[in-house]
Amino acid sequence: MADGPNLRRAAKPDEPDAPRVERDGAVWRIRSLAVARQVLRARDRTTQAGFTAEWIPKGRLTHHPILISDGPLHDEQRSKVGRFFAPAVVAERYTARMEACADRLLAQADLAGGCRLDELALDYSVEVTADVVGLTDSPVPRMARRLVTFFNQPPLDITQPDLGRTPRQWARAAVNGLVPVVRFYLADVRPAIRTRRRAPRADVISHLIAEGYTDTDILVECVTYGTAGMVTTREFISMACWHLLGQPRLRERYLVAGQPERFAILNEIIRLEPVVGHLYRRAQGELEVFEGERTWAIRPGDLVDICVRQTNADPEAVGEEPLGLCPGRTLPSGVNPAVLSFGDGAHRCPGQPLAMLETDVLLTRLLARQPRLVGEPTLGWDDLIEGYRLRGVDLAFGRTGWRPAVWWFGGNGYSCGINRREPIMTIMDQAACPVCGMAVDQRNAPSASYDDQTYYFCSEGCRDQFLADPGSFVGNTGS
Ligand code: HEM
Repeated sequence: MADGPNLRRAAKPDEPDAPRVERDGAVWRIRSLAVARQVLRARDRTTQAGFTAEWIPKGRLTHHPILISDGPLHDEQRSKVGRFFAPAVVAERYTARMEACADRLLAQADLAGGCRLDELALDYSVEVTADVVGLTDSPVPRMARRLVTFFNQPPLDITQPDLGRTPRQWARAAVNGLVPVVRFYLADVRPAIRTRRRAPRADVISHLIAEGYTDTDILVECVTYGTAGMVTTREFISMACWHLLGQPRLRERYLVAGQPERFAILNEIIRLEPVVGHLYRRAQGELEVFEGERTWAIRPGDLVDICVRQTNADPEAVGEEPLGLCPGRTLPSGVNPAVLSFGDGAHRCPGQPLAMLETDVLLTRLLARQPRLVGEPTLGWDDLIEGYRLRGVDLAFGRTGWRPAVWWFGGNGYSCGINRREPIMTIMDQAACPVCGMAVDQRNAPSASYDDQTYYFCSEGCRDQFLADPGSFVGNTGS
């Protein structure tokens, strides 16, 4: 058991945190961050096995969906959509729209004297992501409700044959899956495609049309972005707010901090509370992983289960008080401040900069209203992403005009025992990769010069993407 306080709220009571690497039949369970990163970065020897990827029929698709494609084709897809999600592009194109959306939804909540945050966060995250993807030809609240029905599925366990489902559960899964997809296509995706075939815009759907994707291909990508992007961000907004409301000093700090420090706080909350609890890969070749003196040989065909709650609290990687909240904690070089909450390697989440910015835009406005939690939210679990579902986050707003008490760097504002007398922004000593937003150590990161400025990258892959079209990653998007 880890030392220090345990502030994790979404914990499964029966979930072991040891051993660090174990083999259970043909399934490997990885709880060591170092070993997990080796698996996620073994791009040629593994394929995506999470989110029921191995059960998605690819035959009818002319283009494989980004989430389940692998190898050079996947690299090319990532490189092409990277320009929609680069941090500078996201900030330049979408900040004002996020602010307008947050202000509108919160003004409605003001009239009601409060809100159910998990509902408001759903509408908000769907509206913001829909803008980036290009799903803007149908009313957002209805599309949001259609998207959540994708998660209304019978139980499943990726590590079991047939996903652990009975034939009856498979039949129910087929109906529960197909009906929402058809509705989503007719109401949301088809109108968006039609509009963009006539007049392309700077969004993902227009890009897919230009690449020759069929309507079915585009539908599958929209389901991916819809579920991967919108629904996960909703959960994170609710969880981050729940933590900040429960820790007044951390909340005060969040409200007076600049954006980099607020992002450090949000990254630390999602490290502790990853929305996606497990990542899966299927070994396609021999894969040798190691830690210290020990090595393990993963054989072709084996399933690897990366246990994200455990890797993110691996004391050998994240240091003291792994289940505490210590924004700006020192992490090994090249590790994302959110650790594996947005994945790593070829499939790492392109939407991290978007998710962080939109969460921050909403929470700064919401917390300034001095909300109070009315009752305890209910915590449930989703089998597909093996993550939490927070519901009933009911907030009542206090008097307006409230300002947080300002305190700066004296004493420790957080739960961690480190006595900080300086700004917490150790990660600000680092650079952010302009392609994916990952924190990088400038001393040993690949770099490139553009327009008299040096940029640092998390990997050679991101550097190559940048060099192919630097303007689209530094905010010079021309749209
Ligand atoms: C808090 C919010 C979010 C969380 C926790 C999250 C988490 C993740 C994780 C863990 C992965 C990696 C899956 C793997 O390696 O198997 C992933 C992939 C992905 N995410 Fe996110 N995500 C979030 C927001 C977003 C947003 C806002 C978008 C875009 C609109 C997005 C789009 C995607 C896509 C397209 C992939 C697949 C990438 C690939 O396979 O190459 N996500 N996400």
